[in-house]
Amino acid sequence: MDSSTIRKQFIEYFEKTLGHTVVPSASVIPLNDPTLLFTNAGMNPFKPYFLGELEPPFRRVVNSQKCIRVSGKHNDLEAVGRDHYHHTFFEMLGSWSFGDYYKKEAILWAWKLFTEVWKIDPRRLYATVYTDDSEALKIWKSIPDIEPEQILIFGEKDNFWSMGDIGPCGPCSEIHYYRGDKLEDRDAAKVNADDPDYQELWNLVFIQYNRDEKGELHPLKNKHIDTGAGFERIVAALNGMDSNYDTDLFRPLIDQIEALSDIAYDKGEEGMAHRVIADHIRMLTIAISDGAIPGNEGRSYVLRRILRRAARFGRKLNLKEPFLYRLVPTVAHILGDVYPEIVVQREHVQRILRAEEESFGNTLDKGLELFEQLAKKAKKTGESVLNSEDVFRLYDTFGFPVDLTRLLAEEKGLAIREKEIDDLMEQQRQRARAAGKFKMRSAEELQWIILRPGVPSVFAGYDTYSISAQPVKYAADENYTYLVVDKTPFYAESGGQTGDKGHIVFTDPGTGKMDYGRVLDAQKIGNDIVHIIEGRIFDTHPADSGPLILEVNESTRRDTARNHSATHLLHAALRKMLGDHVHQSGSYVGPDRLRFDFTHYEKVSPQQQREIQQLVNLEILKNLPVETEEKHYIEAVSGGAQALFGEKYGDIVRVVKMGDVSMELCGGTHVGRTGDIGPFFIVGESSVASGIRRIEAVTGTAGLDMMQAQQTLLADIRDMLRTPEARLKERVSALGADMKVLEKENAELKAKLLSSDISGFFEGSGSYRNAPLYVNRVEVENIDQLKNLGDRVREKMKTGVAIFGSVIGGMPQVLCVVSDDLVKEGVKAGNIVKSLGKAIGGGGGGKPHMATAGGKDPVLLEDVLNHIETYLP
Ligand code: SER
Repeated sequence: MDSSTIRKQFIEYFEKTLGHTVVPSASVIPLNDPTLLFTNAGMNPFKPYFLGELEPPFRRVVNSQKCIRVSGKHNDLEAVGRDHYHHTFFEMLGSWSFGDYYKKEAILWAWKLFTEVWKIDPRRLYATVYTDDSEALKIWKSIPDIEPEQILIFGEKDNFWSMGDIGPCGPCSEIHYYRGDKLEDRDAAKVNADDPDYQELWNLVFIQYNRDEKGELHPLKNKHIDTGAGFERIVAALNGMDSNYDTDLFRPLIDQIEALSDIAYDKGEEGMAHRVIADHIRMLTIAISDGAIPGNEGRSYVLRRILRRAARFGRKLNLKEPFLYRLVPTVAHILGDVYPEIVVQREHVQRILRAEEESFGNTLDKGLELFEQLAKKAKKTGESVLNSEDVFRLYDTFGFPVDLTRLLAEEKGLAIREKEIDDLMEQQRQRARAAGKFKMRSAEELQWIILRPGVPSVFAGYDTYSISAQPVKYAADENYTYLVVDKTPFYAESGGQTGDKGHIVFTDPGTGKMDYGRVLDAQKIGNDIVHIIEGRIFDTHPADSGPLILEVNESTRRDTARNHSATHLLHAALRKMLGDHVHQSGSYVGPDRLRFDFTHYEKVSPQQQREIQQLVNLEILKNLPVETEEKHYIEAVSGGAQALFGEKYGDIVRVVKMGDVSMELCGGTHVGRTGDIGPFFIVGESSVASGIRRIEAVTGTAGLDMMQAQQTLLADIRDMLRTPEARLKERVSALGADMKVLEKENAELKAKLLSSDISGFFEGSGSYRNAPLYVNRVEVENIDQLKNLGDRVREKMKTGVAIFGSVIGGMPQVLCVVSDDLVKEGVKAGNIVKSLGKAIGGGGGGKPHMATAGGKDPVLLEDVLNHIETYLP
């Protein structure tokens, strides 16, 4: 049975017969969870439903979720390629109950799908149960075709599932599958013991707790079901295959790797390189299609590591040229129907991969050479561990991720010292940090005085600039006061938008007079919106002595809102003009200007920039309404909203819509209608990193100011040139042409001047081989003038050697001419300049009668001219 049919059957089983709603896979870049680098389980996007932070739109859901497990709590990287059933990227088939059905249904339905729909022999299945879960045990025992010895009990490590150190969790029951040949030999003791013949196929998690930072469990209001089935393993099992790499999800990739390398795939150890590459290319394609990009930090660095590992395994198959990018269409062919984004992004992914492969290619070979030397050195001295400084050098200079070096070392029976290497990395980070810029104090550094414990701090400034509020807590250092209030109109810096400025008004309790404090910035610390206020304002006026009025500076806020709304229009315009591979990768939105970073592999040409600018301005002129709506995450994204990755979204997703042009998830402040943005001008385009471009622009008053300044400049130039605007270009190019003519004339005049009187050059300077030697320092514009001078001096010189030194364009030059009689006697100008050239840090040569040399250091020339005898051959 092919994989598409199996996936479809799973979805339809829950959808058609059991009333679940099908939802699309979320991005592998988690949208609303800063604690995760990649979506690592189907439940990630549903976290707010489990925690009761959001009301789910559906009670029962079914999906197939793209998952990546290469970092954090769930990390399978080390097993990938060594075995046949762990992957960096895999699909998780999931069925969900948000406070609806619970254990009984989850267990019975899973069993029924396996044994009745897919007809897996029940004797091959084992059920595992958490020690304390007598309820699940009873349900399993009630199923007639599972023998009691196939129901096994395990502890927390195997049967209590958590997404990470904190968050929703609960006991689970897993269904394991025995895939061996001899049913009678199967052995329950091998379940959960890393035996490849006994694989976990499906995990049924009974979510009922939330684990807090201290590790304590808190029961949730509702109980939920989160089931996750390993799709690749199921496809292998249903086809009686003992390797996921034999299924149609991988085989076309293995075939292509065979064809590219001309090395046949081996199912044993030898085939590890084929398997690693087939696995890693799926992960890379999926992650880049969702907007990730290889780089030096966090998620980007994980991608880079995976790519470098894959490239190194390519070397094992003699694949030296970039090759990974060539596998992308095959991944798109295998998975494109289910995840259409891969098809849309195919070329973009290829470009990114190819550029990365090319840039790593050279250092990879050099690094591998170095590694071989290090390994030999270790072997020779009888060491079984690589020197940590060397491992760090491989990382720092040759770009070898530590896990790549570890892998290379293991292959040679060597180890690395993780802790020492971590320390070296940390030292480097500290050096980098020390060189970095000052950051705002962290919450722990401040001594908070708490006035209203437990009161949350809420942003309430979407529609207002001024709010009367109660202080919640405050702190102060020498220069500033840090204040948190219950509700505030101040937007704290986030999502690229800068924090609001403004002031705070309070009443002096002594005099009853109003007083002001300047709010310089607003920042988030955890969930608190912290106002940073000039001076220690509460030293003289107690914070809680009367109502506080917080007022945002309206014009700055309006300027910022203009820029923020323009950013959305710019994003939409870029996607329209350049393609769907454009993803936001960062932004700055302040009152002065906006900066938008996005994925794109080449310069946005001036012509394209003009078209984009025009498009944005036309959308502004349409004066589209800017509407905001708070929605569920699934609703928003399945409705086509542009989700921005790497952002910390609040509990509920806010959708900002501008006509039909733009729809984005965004918490920022915006204008009411696009017309409020005013003029939009692109002021810069540049590259930020490989595959990432930056556009800078201004709007509103800054746009007007820029336009005014440009107009004034134009008028000034017009007046200076006394030329009407329409003819300015013509006039400037005419001026340029005139200038060229003048320059030429000038050079000729100078040459003439030089030629006018050369008698001065024959003042005796010494002798060389009994003939007169003339040494002169001259000022000339170029070598031609120097040679011209040489010719003329030679003409006049009956007998002798003349040497000229000059600095041309900052570089020392020497010319030597020799009279014909001396040439006949064997004196060679070429030889002379050779040694003079060396003396001025360069070299030269030429004919016997005339030769030149150039050097690097004008200071040396002085010395040569002053002590010529020392330098002559
Ligand atoms: N969350 C569970 C897992 O990842 C089941 O979906 O295994």
